[in-house]
Amino acid sequence: MCNCLVCGNKVEHVISFGDMPIANGFLPEDMFEKEKFYPLDVGFCPTCSMVQLTKLVDKEDMFNENYAYFASTSRRMVEHFKKFAYWVMETYLSEDPFVVEIGSNDGIMLQNYAKENIKHVGVEPSENVAQAAREKGINTLSCFFDKENAQKIKAEYGEADVIAGTNVMCHLPYIRSVFDGVTSLLKPQGVLIFEDPYVGDIVRRTSYDQIYDEHAFYFSVSSVSYLAGMHGLEVIDALPQNVHGGSMRYILARKGARDVSDRVREIMANEEKQGLKQLSTYQAFAANVAQNKEDLLTLLKRLKAEGKRIVGYGATSKSTTVLNYCGIGPEYIEFISDTTPIKQGKYTPGMHIPVKPYEAFVSDYPEYALLFAWNHGEEIIANETAFKDAGGKFILYVDQVRVDE
Ligand code: TMP
Ligand code: ZN
Repeated sequence: MCNCLVCGNKVEHVISFGDMPIANGFLPEDMFEKEKFYPLDVGFCPTCSMVQLTKLVDKEDMFNENYAYFASTSRRMVEHFKKFAYWVMETYLSEDPFVVEIGSNDGIMLQNYAKENIKHVGVEPSENVAQAAREKGINTLSCFFDKENAQKIKAEYGEADVIAGTNVMCHLPYIRSVFDGVTSLLKPQGVLIFEDPYVGDIVRRTSYDQIYDEHAFYFSVSSVSYLAGMHGLEVIDALPQNVHGGSMRYILARKGARDVSDRVREIMANEEKQGLKQLSTYQAFAANVAQNKEDLLTLLKRLKAEGKRIVGYGATSKSTTVLNYCGIGPEYIEFISDTTPIKQGKYTPGMHIPVKPYEAFVSDYPEYALLFAWNHGEEIIANETAFKDAGGKFILYVDQVRVDE
């Protein structure tokens, strides 16, 4: 039994995926022997409604100089962050603006502030992506954002109008310290804005591959409100986002400092209706996950029995959960094509499927492509008309397992 990372009360067990390798730990053959495995278990806290991992991986094992995720590999995400940055500039900046971004990766968002000469600091512990940001002229610190580092930033740069973080807040199991840092660093009217995969979408779409070591939390407006309340903050708005398979953008301010949008109440009422505050909802989700695994294996076995070639599309961190939980290795998936240079020539964590450059996919189209980067599905399927024209088909497993006809 374990205690909630947010409120400290007892967490109820929801699902065990078994032992998993580091989700982003793409590795060369000579490292197979040294690969580390950790149990991946999810729990639900009935007190604060936070869905969370109940066993954690050391953060230095995940975020280091080998971190394989460069956000700017997706054009659609570059656009998304540009829009995000300009919306923040128009809505939340004071006369003397200062913006902090937690988990600034390769500078995909802050580059927009740098371009407008707005004072900014990115906080990014993975040295390789931090360096990529610095090369674009973005002021970047290589450390984890916590209470202590927030105080250092405040001492050097002053208080922040906006502290932003996308796909990072859910990475921080020591979130109470992060929120302490946020409350000490924000101006009185300042806002914390973060965006992460939304548990309502994960449950609705059975997108269980969002569950992996980096994602310690699966937020809802209800659980974020509870967390905010513990730190003298409140959720003033919540905006659903059509990225990463369904995300939510949360905007928090000091309690009473800003108006609260009606949307917050509406979404929380919908969460109540969807059962996001009840253990039984997550137990039903666990049953759907098991069914999804069975359906995917049945399909892959049938296709292999028919002698078809299947290649993976997008060596995502999400794919690590699917491959290892379902036990899908090179006997099903010949290789996975990915545009990220650091992943190419390596193998997927745990199941050791080779990762090859995109050219390997294009030069010899398989009959089927299992779309692990399904969250970029629209962008990818629209681009892959030649694959379709050659008779190729995508296999999808989110919402349900199916072949895209
Ligand atoms: P993500 O789902 O965590 O954003 O990761 C997407 C991965 O898929 C990343 O490794 C880059 C890769 N990718 C491609 O190989 N081709 C594409 O067209 C896109 C959009 C992503
Ligand atoms: Zn709790």
